[in-house]
Amino acid sequence: MTKAKDNQKIRILGIESSCDETAAAVVENGRCLLSSVIATQIEIHAKYGGVFPEVASRQHIRTIYAIIEQALEQAHLSLGDIDAIAVTRGPGLAGSLVVGLNAAKGLSLGRGLPLIGINHLEGHIYSAWIYKQDDSNPVPAPNFPLLALLVSGGHTELNLLTDHLHYQRLGATLDDAAGEAFDKVARLIGLPYPGGPSIQKAAAEGDPDAFTFPRARLDGTWNFSFSGLKTAVLREVRKLQEGGEPLPVNDLAASFQAAVADVLLTKTLKAAREFNVTEIVVAGGVSANKTLRDAFLNQQEFPARIPPIGFCTDNAAMIASAGYFHFLQGQSDPLDLDVLPTWPLS
Ligand code: KG4
Ligand code: ZN
Repeated sequence: MTKAKDNQKIRILGIESSCDETAAAVVENGRCLLSSVIATQIEIHAKYGGVFPEVASRQHIRTIYAIIEQALEQAHLSLGDIDAIAVTRGPGLAGSLVVGLNAAKGLSLGRGLPLIGINHLEGHIYSAWIYKQDDSNPVPAPNFPLLALLVSGGHTELNLLTDHLHYQRLGATLDDAAGEAFDKVARLIGLPYPGGPSIQKAAAEGDPDAFTFPRARLDGTWNFSFSGLKTAVLREVRKLQEGGEPLPVNDLAASFQAAVADVLLTKTLKAAREFNVTEIVVAGGVSANKTLRDAFLNQQEFPARIPPIGFCTDNAAMIASAGYFHFLQGQSDPLDLDVLPTWPLS
C-alpha cells in the first residue's frame, strides 16, 4: 500500500445512504474525524414497523445535499480542500444507494475528485479506526491480524483481516442477522422499532436468567443462527398469552439479549484463539448494545475494540475512513459505477 507522506493531510468526504440514515462526514488520514452529520429517518419508518424502501429513497433525496453542506461546514472546509469522495456502493436498498452514489458522482465530476465506491460492511469495520479531532491522546490504530465481528441489521459475520482491505469471511449467519433478530423479537414482545435500543432499554429492568433461551453453537463452523432463538421467544410469548398472563416484557428482553451476547462472544473468542489474532473489532449497529459491549470489554483474553456508540450504527465517517485506505491504493471509480445492493465483503 502506498503511504501518505508524514505531514500530508488527506481529507476524504464520506457519503452514506444505504438504508434509512442520510449521512456525510469528513475524515483526515483515515482516522481523525473532522465532521459527521447524520439525518435519521427512524421516526418516519417507525410507524411502518420497519424501513419502507420507497419512502427512504425519497427522504434521502430531500436531505442529502444539505447534509453534505453541513458536513463540510462543520469541518470548516470547502470542496476545494477535499481529496476524494467515498460513497457507499452497497450492500443496501437499491433506491437509497442510488441517491448517495449520484450525489457523489455529481461532486466528483464537478470538482474533478476521485470517486471511491465503498462496501458498507467494510465501512462498519473501519469505524474502529476513527477518533475525534479533539481527542488529545488517540488510541493507536488497530493491529493486524484482527478478527472483526460485524453485527448489523442486515449482516452478522466473522471476518479475518490480515492487512488493510484483506478480508477472509470465516462464517456468517445462516438465517437472521443479529440486528434483525433484535428487531423481530422486539415486535413479538410489543416493543417499538428499532428493536435493538428498545430491547436494551427494557432489558435493563429485567432478569437475564428469567428464561433459558437456546444458544445455537453450530460447533465446527464459524456460522451463527438466530432463527431458533427467535422461535423460542415466540413459543414462550404464545404460552404466556394462552395462560392469560401479562407478558414479562423486561425479562423476555433481558433473557433474549443475554442469549445473543453469549453466542456472539463465545464464537468470536473461539475464532480469535484459533486464528491467533492480535485483537478483536466488534462493529455494526448491534455493537451499540451495552450488554454485548460489556461482554467483550470485560473479557481479558483479547484486546477488544468497539467504536464509540455514535459510530456503531450507520454513519458516513466509517465510509470516509475506509475510503482513505482505498485512496492510498489509487482507487478511482468510473462515473458509470453502479450500486451493488448485494455485495459480499469477501
Ligand atoms: O449497522 P446498522 O445501523 O444498519 C445496518 O447496516 O443494518 O444496524 C442497525 C441494527 C438494527 O437492527 C438495530 O435494531 C440494531 O442495529 N441496534 C441495536 C442497538 N442499536 C441498534 N441492537 C442492539 N442493541 C442496540 N443498542
Ligand atoms: Zn450498517
